[in-house]
Parts: sequence; structure tokens; C-alpha cells
Amino acid sequence: MSADLWNSAVQVLDTNWSDDHMVPSRRLYPHQWSWDAAFIAVGLAYVNPTRAWRDLRSLFEAQWPDGRVPHIVFDPRTAEDDYFPGPGFWEVPAYGGRPARGSTGLVQPPLHAVAAWEVYRRAAAHGVACAHEAGAQLAWLYPRLVAQQEYLTRRRDVSGDGLASIVHPWESGLDNSPSWDSAMAAVPADLRLLERYRRRDIENADAAHRPTDLDYSRYVGLVVNYRDAGYSDAQLAQRHDFVVECPSFNAILAAAELALAHIAAVVGADPDQHRRRAREITAAISTHLFDPRTRTFRSRDVRRRALSPARCVNGLMPLLLPDLPTGQAEAIMAEARSARFGLPERTGLPLPSYDRTAPDFDPLRYWRGPTWINVNWLLRRGMLMHGYHGEAEDLRTAMIRLVHRSGHFEYYHPDTGAGIGAPAFSWTAALCIDLLADRSVPAYARAA
Ligand code: SER
Repeated sequence: MSADLWNSAVQVLDTNWSDDHMVPSRRLYPHQWSWDAAFIAVGLAYVNPTRAWRDLRSLFEAQWPDGRVPHIVFDPRTAEDDYFPGPGFWEVPAYGGRPARGSTGLVQPPLHAVAAWEVYRRAAAHGVACAHEAGAQLAWLYPRLVAQQEYLTRRRDVSGDGLASIVHPWESGLDNSPSWDSAMAAVPADLRLLERYRRRDIENADAAHRPTDLDYSRYVGLVVNYRDAGYSDAQLAQRHDFVVECPSFNAILAAAELALAHIAAVVGADPDQHRRRAREITAAISTHLFDPRTRTFRSRDVRRRALSPARCVNGLMPLLLPDLPTGQAEAIMAEARSARFGLPERTGLPLPSYDRTAPDFDPLRYWRGPTWINVNWLLRRGMLMHGYHGEAEDLRTAMIRLVHRSGHFEYYHPDTGAGIGAPAFSWTAALCIDLLADRSVPAYARAA
């Protein structure tokens, strides 16, 4: 099974390569996405490191002068109508020598330092020229990765508690997760906005598998509000309706600092500052996003200073952090093993995106139930980090079995394992390559 699966994954990545970047999927997502590029680089590290570097570089060439890395970099050859909301809707002005309308103004989880370190540490296996290329690319990326962290830790620390806020569900990567429901309830929903703009996603995917029109009217309204203020982060708590701290986004922010500590040591910078920041972000997650009553991590609505009532897969992601207090790591594992999420020993399948026992669990609708490979891949890294080797191996096997049986889909039915969303999805293929190849402890778990 491994050789077939490996070859089919490589084929997906070949098909989705577009000159200087990877598209997540040809029809549904015909541009470059930020956190997709990180997951994709992890897989390309084994089969085509030059493309991994090229993809990351294309993304960071679109970095804004303030350090933000846009969540979509638009391909100028793709027609405006092929994706909504397209470049004309975002109206991003020209910056840094790049033409106007080249990107969005939102961000996504900053997993790129972790990905860059993965590509670098595997480069030597491809020979001397590849190792040389990796050193040069890492040196080019390092100051840009640092600028990304600084944007998120300075401009997006809205609460002042040392955590980055997201200003749109799209920034989490977990668009319609129930984790945002309570905060989104306060966001005006103007369905007339969708009369003016046409959704393209539901022409390329089943509407029952995608966010609703009500969700989209709020998504569009939030972009309009942020856009019309010039994508400024000043006074967000006062003038923006959605300001939320996500445990997954912030866990990735801290994991990025740990990867940057490794990268700094290679490029001749100071690793200690990164280790310190990782500890600080970990402590802030541990203090502010953990609900001691239920012993789970939740997202926090910054405007109302309230934790979300929903138990979602983002609450399991702090396991990525080696400095997480042992009791909280154990609490995450207890949640993962429970009937709410059910580790593979219970179901034979990777974990769903939302609490299976919740009355509004929806096995089809995007992040409200379906199983996604990327968050399971992150969870497995966390398990390895904290020494849960047996369960990490079960999860690895369950992911491989699922993709082998159903194909490289965007997401999967959490009970039947049937593929849902886009077929030939890049990050599923890329992470599958990594899962087939890598049984080791993640590099940033080891002392730098
Ligand atoms: N994930 C969003 C979409 O579905 C945008 O980032 O298009």
C-alpha cells in the first residue's frame, strides 16, 4: 500500500504545481494559501525540496511591509470570477514593489518556520547541492519569519495578555468551526451582501459540505469592515466585531518560535530570544485559554473576555508545546481519548474536528465535524512531543489507512471515512508523504 499511496501523493503535488507555487486544489482554491504552503512544504521536503523553497518564497515575497503574511496570494492569471472573494473584492493596495490586488489582508496560522525547519533538516538526504540551497533559503527566510512573528505578537496582541488575536474565522484556517459561534453571533449578518456577490465555492463543492450563506454574509461583512479601515489593527477591540484568541493559532505561534530557535542557530542569530518567546506564549495559552472546570482549551472572545462553550479540535493543539504543564497535556489526551473525539483505538479513524456528542455535530459541514488530516498531523506531533508514542503511532496508521482507502481528499466523513470537499487536495497528499516516511520525534522537540 505504501508505494501506491506515495506515488499517488506525488502525483497530486505534481498536478497542483503552478509555475512558482502550489494551489491547494485546482478548482476550489485556484491561488496560493498561506498555511497550506507550510503543510505542503513538509511533504515536498521528501520529493522536491526546490519546490518547497520556491513555494515558501513565493508566499513570503508577498509579505506586507508590516510583517503580515497574507492568507491568500493571488495568481494574476486566474480570473476574478474563479474564486470569491477575489482580488477585486479585497482591494489591497500596491506595496513593496508588488502591484495592487496581489493578496488578501488577513493572515493564517504561522506554521512556516516549522515547515522551513523540516525542509532544511531533510535537505542533506538529497545531496550537497540541496543542502547548500537549503542553507541559503533558510537565511533568506529567517528575517521574514521573524517579522511575521513580530507582527502577530505586537500588532495582534489585542487583549494585552501575550496572545495573538484573529480578526476573521478564515485566519484560523478552521473557517466555520463551532469555536467561533458565540463570538460570531454578535457579528451582523446581512444576507443582502450575498446578492451583490456570488459565492463560487458552492459551484465547485456540495453546499451541504461548506459554510452556510449566513456564515458567508458574516465573513464578507468582517472583511469589508477590516478592509475599509485599511487593514489597520489599531483599536480592533473597539471597532471590529470579531476579535478572538484561538488555542491552535497561538500554539502554532509558539511552535514557530521553537523552530526559529533552531533556524537562528544555523543562520548565526540568537536562539535564546525565540525560546523565551515560546515559553511566554505557552504560559499565556496555559493561563488564559484553559477552562479549569472542564479541563479543556477553548478559544476566547477578547471583546467579551469569555471562553467559547464549544469543544473543538483547536483545543487539542496546545499539545504541540513541550513546556505545556503536564497536567494540561494529560487533560488534552483525556479529551482526545474520550467519546467526544475518540482516538483511533475507539473508531479506527483519525479525530473529528468537533465534539461528536454535541447536538449540532455535523459530519459533513467543513469544520463542524469532518475529519481533517492537517490537525491530526499536528496532534500526532504533540503526542510524540509528550511521549505518547503508542497513540501517536495508532494515529499515524489511521491517517494513512484513511487516505489510502478514500483518496487525497480535503476532509472526510468522521464515521464512514468517505472523502468530502475537494479531491486531489495538496496538504493531504503532502502530509501523507511525511506520515509514510517519518516515524521520528519532531526536531523542535529536541533541545536546541
Ligand atoms: N478557506 C476559505 C475558503 O473556503 C478561505 O480562506 O475559501
